[in-house]
Amino acid sequence: MRKKIVAGNWKMNLNLEDGKNLVAGILAGNPALTESKQVVIAPPFIHLLQTGVQIENQQYISLGAQNCHFEASGAFTGEVSAAMLQSAGVQYVIIGHSERREYFNETDSQLAQKTDLALHNGLKVIFCCGEPLDIRDADTQNDYVAAQIKAGLFHLDATSLKDIVIAYEPIWAIGTGRTATAAQAQEMHAHIRQIVAAQYGNDVANDMSILYGGSCKPANAAELMACPDVDGGLIGGASLKAEEFLGIIDAMI
Ligand code: G3P
Repeated sequence: MRKKIVAGNWKMNLNLEDGKNLVAGILAGNPALTESKQVVIAPPFIHLLQTGVQIENQQYISLGAQNCHFEASGAFTGEVSAAMLQSAGVQYVIIGHSERREYFNETDSQLAQKTDLALHNGLKVIFCCGEPLDIRDADTQNDYVAAQIKAGLFHLDATSLKDIVIAYEPIWAIGTGRTATAAQAQEMHAHIRQIVAAQYGNDVANDMSILYGGSCKPANAAELMACPDVDGGLIGGASLKAEEFLGIIDAMI
């Protein structure tokens, strides 16, 4: 069943007290969630246990992480493994965010390994894709994004795809205030769904949630969510304020 999902990616923001207050503010808003309308909160690693306790009785709010390492364990100082995330009660992990691809030089092979380890440890994956501005200006974004998805996901069997969410985040829209138009988002989301259908069949593709990310705000969320192939959002800046995050939830799902 295709779910509507609004996921908050806090990135590297908030100390423990501010994070606790943000989650309390989101819960106080009592968003109307169901099996098909869900929320994921993805704070920095240090917040996971605290946030997990705060949402432990929330059937439709899941705990997310922003990354995991591409090895199961070992001498990787400073890193966190998929198994550790699972032991901390994490249910979703964001993999392949453009900021990690850029700043940490994450390769397609590493992202495929991260995806495998996340699934092996019972985590659902929010797999990120999206083109830089020069690719959009050259109008080659469809091939660019298709290559990212094929390299990161298409080694998986069809059964595994039920635990995969794809997030399309045009890099030129992240943190810039320049949101993709609804038409641009719909065109790319439909393209993503089509390439998944070509590989795994229509049933798998139609059940997949494809989220939009990139300057999504309460003011533009409803228009984006009205697109038939936009199944929610991966929210950065607006996830750091309870009122804005609740406004996107209300508009999107
Ligand atoms: O992962 C979501 C993020 O990249 C979008 O950031 O601040 O444009 O909503 P923002």
